[in-house]
Amino acid sequence: MATSAKKTKSAKTAKSTVIQAPKGMHDILPEDAWYWEKVEQAVRDTASFYGFDRIQTPILENADLFIRSVGESTDIVEKEMYVLKTRGGDHLALRPEMTAPVMRAYIERGLSRVSQPLKVYYFGPAFRHENPQAGRYREFYQMGFETIGGESDPIYDAEVIVAGSRFLESLKLKNLAIQVNSIGCKVCRPNYRKKLQDFYRKEMAAMKKNKVVCKDCERRLETNPLRLLDCKSDLCVSLKAQAPSILDNLCFACRQHLKGVLEYLDEVALPYSLNPYLVRGLDYYSRTVFEIFSDQSDLALMGGGRYDYLGEILSGKPIPAVGVAAGIERIIDVVKTNNLLPLRKTTDKVFVIHVGDLAKKKAFALIEQFRKENIRVSAALGKDSLQAQLKAADKEAAPLSVIIGQKEVYEESVIIRDMKTGSQETVPLKKINDTLKEKLRKQ
Ligand code: HAM
Repeated sequence: MATSAKKTKSAKTAKSTVIQAPKGMHDILPEDAWYWEKVEQAVRDTASFYGFDRIQTPILENADLFIRSVGESTDIVEKEMYVLKTRGGDHLALRPEMTAPVMRAYIERGLSRVSQPLKVYYFGPAFRHENPQAGRYREFYQMGFETIGGESDPIYDAEVIVAGSRFLESLKLKNLAIQVNSIGCKVCRPNYRKKLQDFYRKEMAAMKKNKVVCKDCERRLETNPLRLLDCKSDLCVSLKAQAPSILDNLCFACRQHLKGVLEYLDEVALPYSLNPYLVRGLDYYSRTVFEIFSDQSDLALMGGGRYDYLGEILSGKPIPAVGVAAGIERIIDVVKTNNLLPLRKTTDKVFVIHVGDLAKKKAFALIEQFRKENIRVSAALGKDSLQAQLKAADKEAAPLSVIIGQKEVYEESVIIRDMKTGSQETVPLKKINDTLKEKLRKQ
């Protein structure tokens, strides 16, 4: 008896509990949708200006794609990937990023047969099971530019950095700080890794039992020592400044490549700074890596780099490639808190108001007539009181309203009201389209 009563109670509680969005995931509400449209439009405009065509890949991919490309010992693959097994036994992952899927599509769809390099852009959601905090979510949107194929020419590295910065500037983000580094190639990186391991091991031995790096980094020192430079724990940050710099350890070809990238950036007068400890959290990079910050946010808005080995990892054939991706939520956050974009323009809107049932029907038809004429119009058709409708018109900040009552229906006319001055004029229905357009032009 007692158990069944308990069961009924918990079933009731479960029913009345409000179901919430999964942790770290959010809805894009109508009040914010305008910012999202603006940002997506800026992505499209910049892409078309710089010659990047849209590509869209599935949200789910084979998990192996990310294990092999992003890297088994990265946080993304080790801790943050959403993986699932389908009923058919496939091992899939919600994409944590889009570079590997784009390279997969390039190889699988034979995109090396079109004119090279292939330049593509994307906009869509990515998923990482991170600890949610400001600017760090479990579902977030990324836009990105990728240049794949052709030559491993530093001019393409410079082009994605410039295109990324121009995209941010088009959203009025100012004082961008671009940090650039090179993490070398197969020739020079193993040497640097060894030097880095020697440095940290020496420090550990000197400090004996006292910790010099965090627990994660003790492990990373064996599997992925470059990641120690990216660790944000206080312990690791303080020691990093004494670690050997990769810039002193690059081979001649990598030095020349980096010099080329920087010279192209100088050529277009794009300011940057060299950060020899910038390594990024994904394993597929070679040579150029970079991140872009704005002075209004501590978190990177964009990050990217060259990934010449990724094609080889996935297909056995080397494929030069370079790209950049940005976090849309982080950008919108800066744009919103700093009021960087003007609010939605409402100077071209007409609000239609009805008084009485007959007028309500006429207003419904009138709204359709205006829309066919490309006149932007709104109304509060569900409300019947004139006061309530005028209040709604004020809220929408429509500069003009069109009022129709029983008298106007019989006389085949309407009243146009200037919402700022309150002045009104009666206009014959026949002339309403032209009169409204003329008045809107003058607003
Ligand atoms: P990423 O640095 O991991 O690089 O991500 C790029 C951008 O996505 C970051 O700069 C940040 O703005 C945003 N982002 C990353 N994680 C989160 C999160 N948890 N919440 C909110 N925003 C986030 C990549 O993903 C590479 N695929 C970039 C690339 C393109 N490399 C070459 N081509």
